[in-house]
Amino acid sequence: MYVCICHAVTDREIREAVERGARSLSDVQSCLPVGGCCGRCETAARDVVDECLLATPRRSAA
Ligand code: FES
Repeated sequence: MYVCICHAVTDREIREAVERGARSLSDVQSCLPVGGCCGRCETAARDVVDECLLATPRRSAA
């Protein structure tokens, strides 16, 4: 579904950004234009990032 209407960014694209290493909405915004216009999507986008981070197992340094 579209999270950011202004820039047609979907939850799938945000999840893919997290899977590629984004760890915050700011990280996601470095590769996607989410939130760059009216900003109404920022809370929903942050929720998608947080949900995806919780579902992603942390990699250990060992
Ligand atoms: S809906 Fe995302 S910037 Fe407007």
